[in-house]
Amino acid sequence: MSRKVIIAGNWKMNKTAAEGRELVEALKKSVAGLEAAEIVVCPPFTTIGAVAEAAAGSVIGVGAQNIHWAANGAFTGEISADMLKTSGVKYVIIGHSERRQYFGETNATVNSRLKAALAAGLIPIVCVGELLEERESGKTEAVLAGQIREGFAGIDAKDAEKIVVAYEPVWAIGTGKTATPDIAQAAHAFIRQELRALFGAAADAMRIQYGGSMKASNARELVAQPDIDGGLIGGAALKAEDFIALIREALAL
Ligand code: PGA
Repeated sequence: MSRKVIIAGNWKMNKTAAEGRELVEALKKSVAGLEAAEIVVCPPFTTIGAVAEAAAGSVIGVGAQNIHWAANGAFTGEISADMLKTSGVKYVIIGHSERRQYFGETNATVNSRLKAALAAGLIPIVCVGELLEERESGKTEAVLAGQIREGFAGIDAKDAEKIVVAYEPVWAIGTGKTATPDIAQAAHAFIRQELRALFGAAADAMRIQYGGSMKASNARELVAQPDIDGGLIGGAALKAEDFIALIREALAL
């Protein structure tokens, strides 16, 4: 089954509105007319409006970095699906390891956020991945299986097809230590097997991105793996020229 490559930049807590607009203006020119992949940028909430305006009419999609499960109410500091949608957002990252590590996200909150995103018609990018000590003690598959089974509980196969999974080994994020293509492929194949157990054939339509120190120099080899359908990129998505070079390599352009 052919799956469209999806390359998303996760800007994390970087870039003001003016800086975001500048990056998207530069990116827009380079990806004009590109049909081989979905290109997404995920700015901080306060930068989304400016970026959505700059990206309008281009192939660049806009994503958020978090979403709350409630429609509205007394949830100080949180943002709802409707707020995102009406700001021009189409994608949303859920359960990034930094949210799990520093902000108390669990598989249960991931599940609630995922359901809210799907109900609103947003495309969720759900992050999973093991810590270094989990890999070293042979727990990678158990950790991934738990994140998937609990994070995706109660989702039906029809909705599952829309979900993008990002496999981000925590030891590779921001460390410069990329998983080798073989290690990444093995984890992606395992994730797809877990998705198949939950969703049957729909698993073959689901995109699984790799994330963790992906850059122009390793993107081609990673995305060439049979179960790697793109990338979720942090550091190398913060400068237009780096992100453009990475996109070209990932797509072998
Ligand atoms: P990195 O971040 O590319 O800087 O390693 C990836 C991510 O956290 O999504």
